[in-house]
Amino acid sequence: MPSSSRSAKDFFAPLAVGAPAPVREVPARPSRAIHFFDPSNEKMAAKIPQMVGTVDVLLGNLEDAVKADNKLAAREGLVRIGRDTDGLGGPGGTTQLWTRINSLDSPWALDDLTTLVPAIGHRLDVIMVPKVQGAEDIHYVDRLLAQLEARAGLERPILVHAILETARGVANVEEICGASPRMQGLSLGPADLAADRRMKTTRVGGGHPGYLVRQDPPTSADGAADVGADRTTYQQDLWHYTIARMVDACAMHGIYPYYGPFGDIADVVACEDQFRNAFLLGCVGTWSLHPKQIAIANKVFSPSVEDIRHARRVVAAMGDGTGAVMLDGKMEDDASLKQCLVLVDLAEELAA
Ligand code: GLV
Ligand code: MG
Repeated sequence: MPSSSRSAKDFFAPLAVGAPAPVREVPARPSRAIHFFDPSNEKMAAKIPQMVGTVDVLLGNLEDAVKADNKLAAREGLVRIGRDTDGLGGPGGTTQLWTRINSLDSPWALDDLTTLVPAIGHRLDVIMVPKVQGAEDIHYVDRLLAQLEARAGLERPILVHAILETARGVANVEEICGASPRMQGLSLGPADLAADRRMKTTRVGGGHPGYLVRQDPPTSADGAADVGADRTTYQQDLWHYTIARMVDACAMHGIYPYYGPFGDIADVVACEDQFRNAFLLGCVGTWSLHPKQIAIANKVFSPSVEDIRHARRVVAAMGDGTGAVMLDGKMEDDASLKQCLVLVDLAEELAA
């Protein structure tokens, strides 16, 4: 997608109720790993300058996981980092700077926005809004940002990313994606979503050993099922439905879907599996809660050398893009060409 040349002023016009979703041009910048840090944690904050250039996105988290007593210190810490860190955020940044503000029903969200935008709005690429329930939450943030940007004389609009972590948010996912031309993407918030849905899990993302299907029992010659026999079980993906809904809504509105947090830092194997499922379903990236998850995300959300090589062979074999060809015994046609172009385009964006 081409880079946006819109200025902050373009975002000041309210969206007409019932108007069709505007055609948006979200700047395509790699964001395979959105690495979370707590700006109130001095040890973590001190490491940020060395991380610039090693990860696609650094996100200063102000919301959950930051203690209530540290909210002010986190906000101030993020302002310092945004002001003082070379190469972080803004048009020339080698790593994007995002923040997750506090939720709109908390006492902190307004101060987060009114502090950050004047101080480091020129560096902030994306604001992640948690617990988004519907288009009205995005409209509120959109209008507030437009005022703050105009007052600060910012030329470049700050984009908005919503976390889907309530049942109502999931029900309204399409209207959330289309609520503002600022919308950059959506992430799954599996922990809050599980609680809101009254799921019986206690983890942050990932699977559950109890959510499984069992192979049918073997039957004897007379057709009787031996329900006592040993049978293989297969763990199912708790998040498939929500991610598929997110992916469709994002595709419909031309914005980007992301997985979210995977809280079991030690289980790098399950983390990689969960991220890969999301990538294959259409997500472009995920959150990283520990530096070791950055490498996993970069690997998983970049197409493999073999996949790119195969995709390029299909593109070449398809010539003018119409008709069908046989390649390695498989039929390829216009639709397989389109799938291959998704991988080729992604490889080119990541290499740019
Ligand atoms: C993330 O915010 C989550 O609730 O999983
Ligand atoms: Mg949450």
